[in-house]
Amino acid sequence: MTSFGRTMLSEWYLDPGYAYLNHGTVGATPKRVLARQRAIIDEIERHPAEFMLRRMANPMAADWDGEPPLLRQVATQVAEYVGAGDADGNADGLALVDNITTGANAVLGSLHIEPGDTLAVTNHGYGGVTNAVRRVAELAGASVQTITLPSAGAPMADFVDAFVAQVQPGLRLMVMDHITSFSALIMPIVEMVNHCRAKDVPILVDGAHVPAQLPLDVSAIGADWYSANLHKWAWTPRSSGFLWVAPHHRKAIHAPIVSWGVGNGLAAEFDLPGTRDPSGFLAVNEALTFRTELGEDAIRDYNHDLAWASAQRLSAAWGTEFSTPQEMVGSMVIVRLPQTLGTSTDDAERVRRHLYDVALTEAPVFSSETESGASASPDGLALRLSIQIYNDASDIDRLEQAVLDLATKGV
Ligand SMILES: Cc1ncc(COP(=O)(O)O)c(C=O)c1O
Repeated sequence: MTSFGRTMLSEWYLDPGYAYLNHGTVGATPKRVLARQRAIIDEIERHPAEFMLRRMANPMAADWDGEPPLLRQVATQVAEYVGAGDADGNADGLALVDNITTGANAVLGSLHIEPGDTLAVTNHGYGGVTNAVRRVAELAGASVQTITLPSAGAPMADFVDAFVAQVQPGLRLMVMDHITSFSALIMPIVEMVNHCRAKDVPILVDGAHVPAQLPLDVSAIGADWYSANLHKWAWTPRSSGFLWVAPHHRKAIHAPIVSWGVGNGLAAEFDLPGTRDPSGFLAVNEALTFRTELGEDAIRDYNHDLAWASAQRLSAAWGTEFSTPQEMVGSMVIVRLPQTLGTSTDDAERVRRHLYDVALTEAPVFSSETESGASASPDGLALRLSIQIYNDASDIDRLEQAVLDLATKGV
């Protein structure tokens, strides 16, 4: 069995001089996956028009005779990996999109929001997606309600209670993260979706961080739409994400970029949004194969165990409170920083910069002065730790000492 830790860095291009504790932000793609992607690019360049216009996708119809176009084959693999296939094994509800931001924009653009409608986000929501909701609401004369959930550290039941108390019938759309970005929490998404269904509120789940970080069965969650990234935790090249659409919304969904496939169904609309590089999607299989070889469960368990143990250890060493329940932690976790490091956004940036420049340690730092920072820590600075199999305790040693040095000597 392969042992995980810094020796695994040989499988990535990451600079071994650094402790990279920020896998969650934009992912990091293993060398062999990038090698596969480069080989695909070489193959495309041998017959560019044949590949791009015929083999890759079919913009004229959702149905085809014989072998499906390559992107549909990828969609089938992805659907199998994330549990987003239909009962007959087809991936008819799965669109390949560059990223979750695109998936969310597709849903928002397909909804026909009207004046007086109310769309809802939460105070833990990702700013880019929340901005998209606000823009659509503004253009339509609709309003946006922010559902206020507790900060990281509260019991899971408190999140359900707050959600249930505030999400009321009549909302045109609820956008809810499955794993939040700044607060890095696994949300009780099934309870939240069930509540929305009971209240007849359509729900879009933002699963940006979920594929590969958690076992995923998208159709069992029962949301109206589920969009996520593969390029964060599933090791695929950037940019590769998906949007799953529940059967009753499939006729109404449209790609945010209108091109030749317009009106020809989900596959035709989303697979050819003008000319784009398909090589990342076509290398998805290599990433999933690598993960299977190493063992999905072994990867997930290693990442979770190290994240969880590190949070206990760092909060004890730094003298900060840590009360996040283990069931809300995957491979990312929020740890509060010592009060002496400050509270402002300038303090957060100064600490982050120092960790990167001096301690050669990469991890994001948030301030409670912003709404998203406050979702991670209500008073002061918080650091988000992401663990991937190329990390080990020596990275945590380095981070622990760097923060202690900063807290005693200052920047
Ligand atoms: C919860 C959440 N949603 C959406 C995004 C945006 O991802 P992308 O830029 O790949 O669309 C992120 C990125 O970190 C995120 O954490």
